[in-house]
Amino acid sequence: MSKRVVLTGMRTTGKLHLGHYCGALQLWKEVQDYETHDCFFLLADVQALTTHASDPKVLAQSIKDVVLDWLSVGLDPTLPNVHFVLQSQVVERHGLSVLLSMIAKYNEVLRNPTLKDELKQREKPGSKKLNHSRDSVSLGFMCYPVDQAADIYMVSPTPPANGDELLVPVGEDQVPHLEYARTLATRFNTKYGRVFVPCRAMVGRVGRLVGTDGQAKMSKSLGNAIDLSDDTATVRKKVMGMFTDPNRTSSTVPGETEKNPVFVYHRAFNPNVAQVAELTERYQKGKVGDVEVKAALFKVIEDLLAPIRERRAKFESQDIREYVEAGTNVARESCKEVLAAMMDKMYLAYPK
Ligand code: TRP
Repeated sequence: MSKRVVLTGMRTTGKLHLGHYCGALQLWKEVQDYETHDCFFLLADVQALTTHASDPKVLAQSIKDVVLDWLSVGLDPTLPNVHFVLQSQVVERHGLSVLLSMIAKYNEVLRNPTLKDELKQREKPGSKKLNHSRDSVSLGFMCYPVDQAADIYMVSPTPPANGDELLVPVGEDQVPHLEYARTLATRFNTKYGRVFVPCRAMVGRVGRLVGTDGQAKMSKSLGNAIDLSDDTATVRKKVMGMFTDPNRTSSTVPGETEKNPVFVYHRAFNPNVAQVAELTERYQKGKVGDVEVKAALFKVIEDLLAPIRERRAKFESQDIREYVEAGTNVARESCKEVLAAMMDKMYLAYPK
């Protein structure tokens, strides 16, 4: 029977927020319910070092935070098809990464649009020096599109059979990485013989979520995030302080709803479509105040977070280590087979 494997991951750099929820976790939860799919959810602690290598200690708590967030939203590693995997503990994966880097081209990586974007974000504001960010960025960071392909292919069905699938549910910004991972697999298969099932991206309904301040991306470092673990008082404060239409000076002035972050969130999280339509109409006509729209949003987000908080309380006192160990072991067994197949095809063996 053909195999269906799903792998996806997150960097372990801190607590998760609503952006992670609608960009990724919602889709992951749907996928884990397909009993026909073996799901690997990767805690990318090595990739976390691409930005935190000089102070890895600050990440020590992050793995636990992320696992707890995953459990709280309803990912369930007690299901037989669901595995939580700690990236650093599959040492064979690092081998895959090195071997894949031998067939990756330097310029391909430099052309990667996501990487280029991330490099640009690291430019010092006002710096005229082109490529300034490359002075400070680590080689590991530059290699991460290849390293991420190693993450994916460590669970590639081995040996591959027709009809096997390797699916990667991600946010839109990760799609170029997956196209590249496909390229690498196809290149390897053509050059050395078939080892990999080339991966395919699955992109969720909601892409990237704007921040509470209207900036393009919700992010901890920008201070515009609502965390999944925020308490009621914090959520209220953050929602009531959200940016709206900057040109609207009073509630009787017609307002903009397309880019307005409060409405973006209503559309993303409010299951009451009629309410969203009604508020939108009144807002556009200048017939509702920001406070009322925000109060409604606060309730919606509270309804979303309440069951998440309840589950968190249950898991907080539990030993979560066993879940991670069990899943990591499953990935390691698979990765050993993939690495052996690669080494075999690349003539990496004791001479006869
Ligand atoms: N780079 C991804 C992110 O920042 C995280 C990640 C690491 C990942 N390894 C992966 C995603 C493998 C998909 C597949 O979100």
